[in-house]
Amino acid sequence: MRPVNPNGSDTILAIEDLRQYFPIKAGLLQKTVAHVKAVDGVSFTVASGETVGLVGESGSGKTTIGRCIVRLYKPTDGSIHFSMTDGMVDIAQLNRNELQPIRRDIQMLFQDPNSSLNARMRIGDIIAEPLEIHGIGTREERRARVNKLLDQVGLGADMHNRFPHQLSGGQRQRVGVARALSIEPRLVVCDEPVSALDVSVQAQVLNLLADLQQELGLTYIFIAHDLSVVEYISDRVMVMYLGKLMETAPTRKIFERPTHPYTEALLNSIPKRVRGGHRKRFVLTGDIPSPVNPPSGCVFHTRCQYAKDICKTETPALRALPTDPQTQVACHLVEELSLQPYYTADELRNLEADHV
Ligand SMILES: Nc1ncnc2c1ncn2[C@@H]1O[C@H](COP(=O)(O)OP(=O)(O)OP(=O)(O)O)[C@@H](O)[C@H]1O
Ligand code: SF4
Ligand SMILES: [Mg+2]
Repeated sequence: MRPVNPNGSDTILAIEDLRQYFPIKAGLLQKTVAHVKAVDGVSFTVASGETVGLVGESGSGKTTIGRCIVRLYKPTDGSIHFSMTDGMVDIAQLNRNELQPIRRDIQMLFQDPNSSLNARMRIGDIIAEPLEIHGIGTREERRARVNKLLDQVGLGADMHNRFPHQLSGGQRQRVGVARALSIEPRLVVCDEPVSALDVSVQAQVLNLLADLQQELGLTYIFIAHDLSVVEYISDRVMVMYLGKLMETAPTRKIFERPTHPYTEALLNSIPKRVRGGHRKRFVLTGDIPSPVNPPSGCVFHTRCQYAKDICKTETPALRALPTDPQTQVACHLVEELSLQPYYTADELRNLEADHV
């Protein structure tokens, strides 16, 4: 059956109960003594043309999900259905040959343009390489395509013969974007694509990604540490903690009123970029626990200021709110908590006025 997206649009990706456990080996015989539960039972869908922000603290499992989707990892368990012309195909267990036609459709854009580009290759060859791997076009056609891509990402054709070290950080990430888009993917997993860049360049690359999405009809999964980066680019946000999804909701709703205590804490940690806005107190204390031995019950209970006894023993399922089916939340106490909105009424008015 074709999975249905909560937004009602065409589903491009449907993930069900995804798990990625990394074995920890020890001793002379290198026996597996435990597992890092990097992703531990995650389910979500993505609509075609949507931008979904995936946020959470360091070590929550965001990159691991991205690497499972582009099949750099073979998941331990669960399914990853991707929309192909003849229906949804579970790519989680496909072998290398079976994956070949799908690899064109799903690309990953990496955080650090310095290490993700081969320092010894010229820019033109870096961008053309995926075309060569997939046997697309003649040499001349590939060169023409590279020139068009350089133009689309705001770089001149004179970049063709340069090496990565002769470019600025922002220019290098533009090359990364051109390379990821060269084989016309439909889904791009953007793993913190601007966090290594200067603040002034971050906005340029974000705008570029947004423009290309419009032009090429792309779908993005946009990974970020904090909510401020995804606020303007994402239609929907998924909040992750210790390998599990805590909340997923339209971006606007997350900022208007978070429904999960972890989302509230993440929001409190970011400065407000609105006229008249002032920073709130950061309330999230303590380190994220080890994914080798995650806490029992709700994995967030060791840091949650609202935790009760039930939180220590029973794991809350991710469930849609009866009052708002677009919002899904994994918290026992969601009905009784009244969490603070990120923006005050005054700030919200200023925000709307400034965006008109
Ligand atoms: N190949 C691996 N082998 C063993 N453990 C791994 C591997 N990759 C990731 N992990 C562990 O899995 C957990 C999730 O890592 P992941 O890189 O997905 O987190 P993240 O949310 O992307 O963090 P960050 O924001 O720092 O990039 C971490 O505890 C990490 O140490
Ligand atoms: S289930 Fe309990 S510990 Fe977990 S977020 Fe909700 S209130 Fe906090
Ligand atoms: Mg990461």
